[in-house]
Amino acid sequence: MKFVLFLGCVVLSTLAVASGSTLNSTLDEDWKNWKSEYEKQYTEDEESYRRMIWEDNMRYIKQHNQEYSMGKHTFTVEMNQFGDLTDKEFNELMNGFRQDEADNSTEEEVDGEDDIEDDEEFEESDEDLKKATVDWRRNGWVTAVKSQGRCGSCWAFSATGAIEGQWAKKHGRLVSLSEQNLVDCDKRSRGCNGGWMSSAFRYVRENKGINSARTYPYEARRRTCRFRRNAIAATVTGHRRVGRNERTLERSVRRIGPLAVAINAGRRSFRLYKRGVYYDRRCNARLNHAVLLVGFGREKGRKYWIVKNSWGTSWGDKGYIKMAKDRRNNCGIANYVVYPMV
Ligand SMILES: *[C@@H]1O[C@H](CO)[C@@H](O)[C@H](O)[C@H]1NC(C)=O
Ligand SMILES: *[C@@H]1O[C@H](CO)[C@@H](O)[C@H](O)[C@H]1NC(C)=O
Repeated sequence: MKFVLFLGCVVLSTLAVASGSTLNSTLDEDWKNWKSEYEKQYTEDEESYRRMIWEDNMRYIKQHNQEYSMGKHTFTVEMNQFGDLTDKEFNELMNGFRQDEADNSTEEEVDGEDDIEDDEEFEESDEDLKKATVDWRRNGWVTAVKSQGRCGSCWAFSATGAIEGQWAKKHGRLVSLSEQNLVDCDKRSRGCNGGWMSSAFRYVRENKGINSARTYPYEARRRTCRFRRNAIAATVTGHRRVGRNERTLERSVRRIGPLAVAINAGRRSFRLYKRGVYYDRRCNARLNHAVLLVGFGREKGRKYWIVKNSWGTSWGDKGYIKMAKDRRNNCGIANYVVYPMV
């Protein structure tokens, strides 16, 4: 069966709509500070509209965190760089993923792409099974949090993260790989307008290599392919999908290492997440964002997946999010999981 997922990710907006709504002047100073912190610049027309959305988000944050202190949520939220976007805008901008287009895609399956792992393949010792926590960052298999900027390239960050992990596991060296190499040169994906991790792995395999991020730095826009054959930092021999349930996902991340996964990151609670175990009962499996799964753990009896995002370190918990684990596949985290072989 063919399943191809197109991941569009987040792009910031320049939409301008005027509004006559009154603003809360006690927030003037906060608004000014926020704009300067995130280097926001608006036209005069746009400013009051953005301020209105921002104030709405400020109210949402205040209420959510109040409810958190009463035990109604397991995570907190905070103002961040996405504070001037509405849900609808964020989703429109983030969802380069279009199901009908994905279904129509002619992408060929190669190298066991649909060779879905099944449980029989796993041989685990009792020792392994007892471990309630896996965190591949501790092994030095995960690079520092990166930032995709105003470019829908989450798929490239998810893919490099997974290759970096497998490369470090095999060769004992952690090398930050080039997302720009993928954005520019993987012609089956669409650069800043979205793409596929499977396609990225296939590009690296067919190209017989990928450059390092140092050799081929990130620019957050698609340009011509400038891959340098004399500076290959890693190679890929193929890739595999992992079965679509959280039990298999746990076994796979434990056995294999960091995995490229797709999630629904479209909710305001996700966009403004700060810390704690993220759970939103309205977060369905409409996949629109790609991230890197680096392990799992438990706090105060709550199980979570450890997820590395590509929205910089000022978002969430130093760039990471703990996502609810074994709670009916919240946000569809187990639905599209892929990893490269190196
Ligand atoms: C304005 O914002 C302040 C600070 O958040 C809040 O205490 C106050 O209730 C707000 N005023 C109105 C009219 O919403
Ligand atoms: C996908 O295929 C269907 C049926 O052939 C067609 O109606 C639809 O327009 C196609 N979508 C895209 C985005 O190409």
